[in-house]
Amino acid sequence: MLNLKSPGQYSAGGAKPPRLPGDKTHSHAAYIQIRDRIQQRLLAELNPSVTRSDTAEVRRVTERLFNDTLAELGLPLSRLERNDIFDAVMADILGLGPLEVLLNDDSITEVLVNGPDHVFIERSGKLEECDVKFRDNDDVMRIVERIVAPLGRRVDESSPMVDARLPDGSRVNVIIPPLSLVGPSISIRKFPKHALTPDELIKKGAFTPGIGEFMRACVKARLNIVVSGGTGTGKTTVLNALSSYIPEGERILTIEDAAELRLQQRHVVRLEARPANVEGKGHISIRQLVINALRMRPDRIVVGEVRGGEALDMLQAMNTGHDGSLTTVHSNNAGYVASCGNDGVDGRHGSTAKGDS
Ligand SMILES: Nc1ncnc2c1ncn2[C@@H]1O[C@H](COP(=O)(O)OP(=O)(O)O)[C@@H](O)[C@H]1O
Ligand SMILES: [Mg+2]
Repeated sequence: MLNLKSPGQYSAGGAKPPRLPGDKTHSHAAYIQIRDRIQQRLLAELNPSVTRSDTAEVRRVTERLFNDTLAELGLPLSRLERNDIFDAVMADILGLGPLEVLLNDDSITEVLVNGPDHVFIERSGKLEECDVKFRDNDDVMRIVERIVAPLGRRVDESSPMVDARLPDGSRVNVIIPPLSLVGPSISIRKFPKHALTPDELIKKGAFTPGIGEFMRACVKARLNIVVSGGTGTGKTTVLNALSSYIPEGERILTIEDAAELRLQQRHVVRLEARPANVEGKGHISIRQLVINALRMRPDRIVVGEVRGGEALDMLQAMNTGHDGSLTTVHSNNAGYVASCGNDGVDGRHGSTAKGDS
């Protein structure tokens, strides 16, 4: 992704980008003018066989048009300012426009667009409004299309709600008018670049070194482990940390709704469930993947979160030789999870461990 530092309107939170000559309004107007001209010309001049994915070609053509446009407009810009505007134009053409700067900022964990005028971010668990703005609903929709098109999805009146993912794994939900009354709404949960290790969790006080050792022994001894907790309590984080205890040399299958786990071992097959397409077809559930995984000679099955029918398959698998499995379940009470497991399945091991965080 482009490391975008763009003019006025695109500054995220605290850090202010360099200013163009004149005030913010002037710089932004100049930027819009340049961007629109370049986009129009790009459409006219770009060889139709060149796709957006041919970044180098698009960049080359854009650069030429950019220089021509600047010369025509006779704008006195320093080299730094030119670079900033060029990056912003490229982000608009190839990337996610005003959202790029927010997505590239590692201190931001969520990006929430409530229509064109209200963009919020989450930093260190706190929500704050930032001064990123879109021109209008169409400007937001351009970015929405850029997000969903590569995934073969579409957002329009007939399918106004879509879950998608950015190439870096960040989760995106889009809901548009008429369902959203504030304009197109985008919610991005950024994929953290770094997953917390057991040692880091211990340092943070999530569990003691003793519990860490105990959990390591449990994983090594192939006990089945269910991590339970409410939303956002750190289940996935703990599951990921626990999975680091799986010895190298075992064949691990991970199954998730949205791939979040990052296992460090070499022998890992990652499976991801698939939502239905626009025609409502092609849905592949976690449960189907669990059943399929059992035929893939797994040493370990790690399921991101069990919610539905797959719970039964998981428990049955755990009790019929596929022990050492790890998963999470949404619950406020680990005891309740354990009793459900015992009621639902004739458990031989009954070793539902609590890893609540
Ligand atoms: N012990 C911890 N200390 C600080 N942050 C944590 C801790 N555990 C998890 N987090 C952070 O909390 C957020 C939610 O964690 P996650 O594991 O995705 O929750 P869940 O799977 O229960 O919904 C993530 O951003 C994660 O990095
Ligand atoms: Mg989770």
